[in-house]
Amino acid sequence: MSLLEVNHIDVHYGDFLALKDVSIHVEPGTIVSLIGANGAGKSTIMNTICGLNKPTKGDIIFDGQNIAGKKPNQIARLGLSMAPEGSHCFERMTVQDNLLMGAYLAKKDERMQRLENVYKLFPILKEKANQMSTFLSGGQRQMLAIGRGIMTQPKILLCDEISLGLAPVVINDIYEKLKEIADTGLTMLIVEQDVNRSLKSSDYAYVVLEGKIVMQGKSKELSVDEVNDAYFGINTFSH
Ligand SMILES: Nc1ncnc2c1ncn2[C@@H]1O[C@H](COP(=O)(O)OP(=O)(O)OP(=O)(O)O)[C@@H](O)[C@H]1O
Ligand SMILES: [Mg+2]
Repeated sequence: MSLLEVNHIDVHYGDFLALKDVSIHVEPGTIVSLIGANGAGKSTIMNTICGLNKPTKGDIIFDGQNIAGKKPNQIARLGLSMAPEGSHCFERMTVQDNLLMGAYLAKKDERMQRLENVYKLFPILKEKANQMSTFLSGGQRQMLAIGRGIMTQPKILLCDEISLGLAPVVINDIYEKLKEIADTGLTMLIVEQDVNRSLKSSDYAYVVLEGKIVMQGKSKELSVDEVNDAYFGINTFSH
């Protein structure tokens, strides 16, 4: 059984139909990637899964329960965590307090254990533990957002636009860490605009174009050229 099943959802913003009959399956222990141009609907998909948007059609089954229409905090409590686009953090709190916020429901020993795990993964966050998070660089913020997601010890971690505005060397570093996290068995749904990187770092990929899924498959079986065509809406069957 899939850990997460998005079944034929439509999402509207007012009269605008932003998602059209979108279906996505995420198997446990895999990394699934959403690829698509600006405005394609990737964040809308992520936000709908975590309860910020309500679908007007279809359902979303997470770990056996229909979560479509539930509130974000109810969905989070079921074990779904999201590191949002632009890596929002609490600017006026220290790095460590930001991380601890992710595990506020856990007992003290357990929180400290999870904190150590995050510091092992991102040693730079340990170095900056007592600094205000507003002083972090873009890459460090992204690490903080991922770290805070892990602190909730979710069944699935959603990451929107991991590489937004980051230098290639920093992006590589973060993807290395994601691989390490995946090796612990954590399931992930990620948004990545770079086709090569997306296919290299995931097990399964979906291409989103104008609110629809236009291509999908095992990442190592998809062709970069065909995914690029689908990304730009070039009909590969017309020539
Ligand atoms: N709150 C909103 N109200 C109205 N329209 C919205 C809202 N959020 C997104 N949209 C529209 O929905 C469409 C999909 O937007 P979305 O943010 O999901 O795209 P995206 O694939 O995440 O793009 P990007 O790569 O730029 O982050 C766009 O046309 C956008 O203008
Ligand atoms: Mg987006």
